[in-house]
Amino acid sequence: MKLILLGAPGAGKGTQAENISGHYGIPTISTGNMIRAAIHNGTALGKQAESLINAGKLVPDEVVIGMIRERLAEEDCKNGFILDGFPRTIPQAEALEKMGIEIDMALSLEVADEKIVKRMSGRRVCPACGMTYHVDFKPSKDNKHCDECKTELIVRKDDHPDTVLDRLKTYHETTEPLKAFYEARGKLVQVEGREELAETTKATFEAIEAFLQ
Ligand code: AP5
Repeated sequence: MKLILLGAPGAGKGTQAENISGHYGIPTISTGNMIRAAIHNGTALGKQAESLINAGKLVPDEVVIGMIRERLAEEDCKNGFILDGFPRTIPQAEALEKMGIEIDMALSLEVADEKIVKRMSGRRVCPACGMTYHVDFKPSKDNKHCDECKTELIVRKDDHPDTVLDRLKTYHETTEPLKAFYEARGKLVQVEGREELAETTKATFEAIEAFLQ
């Protein structure tokens, strides 16, 4: 299965990607995680991206398209993959088509902006392995350290409320038009992100299975 996850920042793409990846045994490719790893490792790409990401702006299309082209050529993508955070612009979606990649579906998680701002203030992430938690909805065992690698959890720099509002603006202006792009291709499925994490997960799996039948 080749799946694109669409949705506003904080809609729950990364959380559902983890569930879907485990169930179908396909890798998740998160451009956000790839860019954060580049920043962490101090690469040239990371240096270019850091101020953009922290301001809630997008990294240039050509940079992200190059990253994705290389990643999709790897062996573990042969039987399918989940794209989390890519494409984010129409030129990125067109580039994916030009690579000859035919996706099965684009699943959009729909969550109202007001809920997102509230939700993001409780997100905690592991700076070492990228695992995501929430202080109320998905706490780690001690609500301080990563369950997987025991590193102390942090608040992402771009999760501060003002930056979240900038990211939402970027989403509505630049990324949301992708819903029409994939609807025109008969690939769009929309799932309402619920308050309860388990309910969103159930609705996500039901939508995938119904669409693929
Ligand atoms: P990226 O890392 O992709 O960020 P994003 O799209 O803004 O998405 P998030 O990771 O913030 O949220 P999510 O939807 O995955 O939600 P999560 O599951 O964590 O990108 C970051 C930046 O990188 C961009 O701003 C841009 O600068 C750059 N970038 C990345 N890709 C790019 C591209 N293609 N082109 C250009 N630039 C690019 O959930 C959020 C929280 O809510 C968590 O704490 C979770 O536990 C909790 N939660 C999840 N679901 C529920 C629920 N149903 N109920 C209650 N809580 C929930």
